Amino acid sequence: MRSIIKLISLFTPGEKRRLIPLTLAVVVMSFLEVAGIGALGPFMSVVADPNIIRTQPILSSLYQFFGFTDDRAFLIAMGVGIFLFMVLSTVFKMFVLYAMYRYVGNRRYTLSHRLFKQYLYQPYSYFLDHNTSELSKNLLTEVDLVVSDVLRPTMDAFARGVLALSILGFLIASNPVVALATGAIFGVFYLTMYGFVRPRLAYHGKNLREANRVRFKAAGEAFGAIKDVKILGKEPAFSQTYAAGARHFALSQASRQIFSTLPGQTMYPLAAGFAVALVIFLLGTHGSLGEMLPLLAVYAFALQRLIPEIKDIFQAASQIRYYRHTVDVLYSDMTETHPPVLPETEELNPPSDRLPFNREVQLEKLAFSYPTSRAPVLNEIDLTINKNTTIGLVGTTGCGKTTLVDVIMLLLEPTGGKMLVDGNPITDKVKWQRNFGYVPQQIFLSDDTVAANIAFGVPERLRNPAAVEQAAKVANLHDFVTTELEHGYDTLVGERGIRLSGGQRQRVGIARALYHDPDILVMDEATSALDSVTEDAVMDAIHNLMHTKTIMIIAHRITTVRECDEIFFLERGRIIARGKYDALVRDNPKFRAMAKVNIE
Ligand SMILES: Nc1ncnc2c1ncn2[C@@H]1O[C@H](COP(=O)(O)OP(=O)(O)OP(=O)(O)O)[C@@H](O)[C@H]1O
Ligand SMILES: [Mg+2]
Repeated sequence: MRSIIKLISLFTPGEKRRLIPLTLAVVVMSFLEVAGIGALGPFMSVVADPNIIRTQPILSSLYQFFGFTDDRAFLIAMGVGIFLFMVLSTVFKMFVLYAMYRYVGNRRYTLSHRLFKQYLYQPYSYFLDHNTSELSKNLLTEVDLVVSDVLRPTMDAFARGVLALSILGFLIASNPVVALATGAIFGVFYLTMYGFVRPRLAYHGKNLREANRVRFKAAGEAFGAIKDVKILGKEPAFSQTYAAGARHFALSQASRQIFSTLPGQTMYPLAAGFAVALVIFLLGTHGSLGEMLPLLAVYAFALQRLIPEIKDIFQAASQIRYYRHTVDVLYSDMTETHPPVLPETEELNPPSDRLPFNREVQLEKLAFSYPTSRAPVLNEIDLTINKNTTIGLVGTTGCGKTTLVDVIMLLLEPTGGKMLVDGNPITDKVKWQRNFGYVPQQIFLSDDTVAANIAFGVPERLRNPAAVEQAAKVANLHDFVTTELEHGYDTLVGERGIRLSGGQRQRVGIARALYHDPDILVMDEATSALDSVTEDAVMDAIHNLMHTKTIMIIAHRITTVRECDEIFFLERGRIIARGKYDALVRDNPKFRAMAKVNIE
């Protein structure tokens, strides 16, 4: 029950509102069905004793109203009437079921889409401590499981519950003693059964999530590192890990199926025993078969309807129990993570909507620590980047260069000190980020064309081919694309750009960063995979941008930053020296040592 409330609380107000007419339709549907069953009683009574037509007030007024003269004709008319009524109520039922399944289907879509958006709009730091295969798994399988195995059965069970209660109400009205005895027998039996399977379902439900995680992780990691897997010959290890996860997942589902259907199946022998007992009981109280017939007919029909309903209600209750853990996780991911700052519309954030940047970016005593790191990764960083200058960030591996630009781009929030743009604190993070073109250390290409990768995330109809070409020219990629690729800019690069060389991928990354004509270009080891001739060509192009753009270059190779207006030399998260290349080589022995290695 708690899980259902949680699940429904994830719906939007509109979605909740639409539940109301649906619920009403379900109630009407159940009453129509019970009315159909109820009409069989009088029909059987008339069959048993036609005189009832004259003694029973409703029947006799109907008889007179339609002007019948013959009992037989009345009986036939009654039968046809009941039949038509049942046909109509079945048609109505089909419509209600259709509306219900559509509703459920739409929730499958809206819930998973909302969860996707929820994840996507989390701050960058969220992704530093969440496994992305886990997020994909939640989106792709767990929402589906919850919708198809919890939401749909619950709505079904609700419809069936209303129907079962209506049938029960009708049975109580027609013969309280028999009905209550029936209710008590079935009730006690089911509560006992549920008590038995409940803990087992909860246990298997927990296993399900873990098993699903294992199999998703194994698949994601094996394919993600396929080269290492091949070279190290680790196919068996990954195959075994996957098998273990997949096997537990399947077995856990099998346990759910058996534990949730078993009690329903035991219903048939129970009902058969009950029917025998009922006949014996009625023989005692009613005496003749004629008197028993109407009641028996109604019971036979009602029980035959009631049993599948109860079975399904039971199954739904069991599944809710089984998936409780999964619902809990979805619920907390959708409500307890950072509330995402969603844009008003789904349209692209226009790249032109930028925070004005006219003079300089200043960092004052800026500090940063990762939530998991012991010591601060950046400390007491004081620096000023003037607009349209080029700065270099150098230092040994792990000294905090990438972290520093992540903080400047506000992918990570500083944990101390401040950052000012033209003397003002940054009020709109998203608009600030629009100023940047970023070439990350690890470039991720999507399995799409070269053009789509350069104009990354821009729908094809909005893509500007001239801008793609211009960006590719600056990145020294244009000649390669036009002369060596079969379909030019429309060539597919393969998953993660697997059909391109490391250097080609890097240049696609540079072109991507330039596509929106950013004010600030950040290059994190952007030329490290290029041979020195190509690197020189790319750097020449970048130098052409100097003094028209603000550029931040991170490099291991000190020669790459030789032309910078100012170079910052980092060590363990602090700036230990700054200045122009020549001055640093002259004055700083450590810098000189690094530069020397490069030159040789
Ligand atoms: N998500 C993270 N959580 C905790 N610590 C991190 C995280 N990312 C990086 N670090 C640590 O922060 C320090 C700085 O990392 P950073 O990536 O900024 O170095 P870098 O100067 O860019 O190195 P490289 O030249 O190798 O790219 C490293 O010691 C690293 O271990
Ligand atoms: Mg780095």
